[in-house]
Amino acid sequence: MDFLDEIDQHKLPKHIAVIMDGNGRWAKNQGLLRVKGHKKGTKAVRETIEACAELGVPFVTLYAFSTENWNRPKLEVDTLMNLLVSSLKKEIKTLQDNNISLSAIGSLQSLPEKAQRELKEVMEKTKNNSRLRLTLALSYGAREELVKTIQDISLKVKKNLISPHLINESVIKEHLYTHDMPDVDLLIRTSGEQRISNFLLWQIAYAELYFTPVLWPDFTRKHLYEAIYNYQKRERRFGKTSEQIN
Ligand code: IPE
Ligand code: IPE
Ligand code: MG
Repeated sequence: MDFLDEIDQHKLPKHIAVIMDGNGRWAKNQGLLRVKGHKKGTKAVRETIEACAELGVPFVTLYAFSTENWNRPKLEVDTLMNLLVSSLKKEIKTLQDNNISLSAIGSLQSLPEKAQRELKEVMEKTKNNSRLRLTLALSYGAREELVKTIQDISLKVKKNLISPHLINESVIKEHLYTHDMPDVDLLIRTSGEQRISNFLLWQIAYAELYFTPVLWPDFTRKHLYEAIYNYQKRERRFGKTSEQIN
């Protein structure tokens, strides 16, 4: 079945988030070092982004490095950071050619200086691109994001800029890293693991979850089309009854 032909252009998810998992297992299956899996994974990143841009999905957020991933062996962390820098250098052209803007969420000040600089440069160069907004979650943890949000709001309360009884869902949303993005419609996780791993807890409150056994380096546009097709077959009720929706 060609899933692309089955996709309804009028029902595309506005925001797709991806937990790109399984690089290490992919490498192990090939008898390679884990880091080779990360390298191969960059191809799947490019393919996914291009396919989303072509389809007309306006927001894509990729989980590239979690706050917990700092606990991996130093060699792997260093390789991932170097890969980030080299990919940014290499892919700036793809971003420009496809009219894609780059942003990043997470405690970015924890990243190596070089990565911070490269990120800043690519974000600045692509900021007026309007077809797709690509967000990389780097040193990102949803709990860290919520802690930061609470600290920022508390400071405003202390300075009498906001009163506690006026704190509502939109005030919280305004203080998240994702304040200028819509909530996630479709969350995809590869590699067969069925967990969230501290990704976008607030933003996925009503996301449709899609788990595939495909390891991230093997993920192609065909798999993305299948995920979107599957998403479009679901009924999103948001607490209402089926009769109210139809
Ligand atoms: C995902 O692949 C990439 C990152 C977390 C950076 P993994 O490295 O987690 O691969 P597995 O889960 O060990 O196979
Ligand atoms: C989640 O993958 C983080 C990223 C994909 C960047 P992990 O492989 O780190 O998740 P856990 O630890 O297995 O849940
Ligand atoms: Mg993993």
